[in-house]
Amino acid sequence: MKETRILVVDDDDHIINTLHAVLRKDGFKSFAARDGVDALNKIDRENPHLVFMDITMPGMNGLETLKRLKSKKCSPPVVMMTGYSSMNTAVAAMKLGAFEYLIKPLSVSKIRKTIEKVLSAYHIPALDVNSDTGGLEDGDTMIGNSPAMLNIFKMIGSAATTPAETPVYLYGESGTGKELVARAIHCNGKFPDDPFMAINCTALPETLLESELFGHEKGTFSGATERKKGKFEIAANGTIFLDEIGDLSYELQLKLLRVLQEREFTRLGGHEIVKVNARFIAASNQDLERKVKEGTFREDLYYRLDVVNIKLPPLRERKCDIPLLAAFFLGRFSRQCSKNIRGFTQETMAILKGYHYPGNVRELENIIKRAVMHAKGELILPCALSGLQNRITCTENLPIKNANFSESRDYILGLFEKKFVSQQLEKYHGNITAAAHACQMSRQNFHRLVVKHHIRTDYLDE
Ligand SMILES: Nc1ncnc2c1ncn2[C@@H]1O[C@H](COP(=O)(O)OP(=O)(O)OP(=O)(O)O)[C@@H](O)[C@H]1O
Ligand SMILES: [Mg+2]
Repeated sequence: MKETRILVVDDDDHIINTLHAVLRKDGFKSFAARDGVDALNKIDRENPHLVFMDITMPGMNGLETLKRLKSKKCSPPVVMMTGYSSMNTAVAAMKLGAFEYLIKPLSVSKIRKTIEKVLSAYHIPALDVNSDTGGLEDGDTMIGNSPAMLNIFKMIGSAATTPAETPVYLYGESGTGKELVARAIHCNGKFPDDPFMAINCTALPETLLESELFGHEKGTFSGATERKKGKFEIAANGTIFLDEIGDLSYELQLKLLRVLQEREFTRLGGHEIVKVNARFIAASNQDLERKVKEGTFREDLYYRLDVVNIKLPPLRERKCDIPLLAAFFLGRFSRQCSKNIRGFTQETMAILKGYHYPGNVRELENIIKRAVMHAKGELILPCALSGLQNRITCTENLPIKNANFSESRDYILGLFEKKFVSQQLEKYHGNITAAAHACQMSRQNFHRLVVKHHIRTDYLDE
């Protein structure tokens, strides 16, 4: 786990030592600068997560240093400290963009509270825990600290240590992070520098896909002017990621099964045996077990793939990850757009947490991306969420009548029946028989609901 780095800027050794002691005891990496120039250099070099800075210092004072710091594109949050409190300096510090303004003497609890506030506003610990992904690019960082995601992280760790012959099967709705998990297994495996070959089994017609995977010899078909290595061969000791495996044709399923069993194959049109050393990771957002039962996916291949399986939970089942993910994407996109956005208003976060995300993390990512593009101020307001509140499932706002279960349920059921039947009748211009038939109800039951809810049918007739 990478440490959270905190810079203390003060010309007073006593303050530096006190802060160092508290910060280090709490597990932070703290280092010091003794004046403004020294501080700016160290911030450039060490990129701290947080800065505590004295206002009165010889040479460039704290306010001037803060001003220079804030004129840069990216700067860490700064907590200003002063022994001489005056409203003017406080206001000046806050106007210059200080995160907080503390009056000395500093108590341990004041220091801790301030750090907590900064870290939660900037979600620094979350980013840090997760940014230690062993060489993954920023785009591959996996965020989450729900029990479900922590379990996924553990499974990534153990899958990565299994021998390469062990295939991994990833199953989860679209946008839950299957490809990210595949990359994480690759990057944590023994050969992270070998290729990660992602192949989408739906993207290519069957014959092309086959030659993409197996490669071909010169002259195998018209257009095959050269020998071409396939992905199985190029992957070397790396990873072959077969995305949407459920869509692989029956023929190719059989060929893949043989490769998995024998760990070797021949190029199309060739005889030379080529060894496969890479790990296979297959992913699907369809239920392969069901496809096996339906007869559209080979049972033998399914069992061959399903040695280590990781099921990615949908985002709506781990809602506590939403604030972390939202903060993570906010940081990423505001950096990309060179905007200085600090966070979300409470109302915005409540809306984000209330939504059910059929498109999972990808959908949340796109919502934040759009919000950052539209944002004007330092905080993301609800209006930047492109009407997300209107898409929140009605269960969030179900009117609970009172504390009596049966009464409340009947009340909601009644509302539903009335709306459903009215809509259906409107669609069929008041024709009860047709409306009942379309929603697979008996005419008698449908009519009963029309009478129960006093729904007019006459005006709908044309
Ligand atoms: N835990 C996570 N932390 C950070 N980003 C995530 C996380 N999960 C998913 N993402 C992001 O969401 C997007 C979708 O993830 P990914 O492509 O891995 O999903 P998928 O399950 O493969 O989806 P599909 O089935 O549609 O191919 C990506 O941009 C990815 O970076
Ligand atoms: Mg994918």
